[in-house]
Amino acid sequence: MTATYKLFAVATAAIFCLGLIVMFADQPDGAEIFKREGCINCHSFKGVGGSAGPELTAVKERRTDAWIRQQIRDSRSHNPATIMPSFSHLSHRDISALIAYLKS
Ligand code: HEC
Repeated sequence: MTATYKLFAVATAAIFCLGLIVMFADQPDGAEIFKREGCINCHSFKGVGGSAGPELTAVKERRTDAWIRQQIRDSRSHNPATIMPSFSHLSHRDISALIAYLKS
């Protein structure tokens, strides 16, 4: 009886830990997306990148998370003449990862 209970407790704990690992391993990497999507070609961040767009190291002091999310999803809603493409194909989680990266 006690052994069964212990086994059950250990198994439950193991499944819980596995869930946590999967959750964190699955977190998209903002730095990677910044490169993959070409943000880095136009923007520099902490001294690395292009100069067609504003330098983004201090963007967190100028803009709110919601504003940055909107800029990434639909840049033309802020400036119809912008050369920045809209990244509407990115998921909510991908954009959250980008924002977290820009605030790092
Ligand atoms: C073709 C060049 C280009 C690409 C690629 C690009 N941007 Fe931009 N971005 C700009 C320009 C230019 C602006 C200036 C605002 C405007 O044009 O309205 C800007 C503005 C921004 C701003 C607001 C900065 C501020 O201080 O107001 C953020 C945040 C931003 N971009 C993030 C990104 C992210 C994240 C990506 C990649 C997913 C990206 N940009 C890709 C050119 C680009």
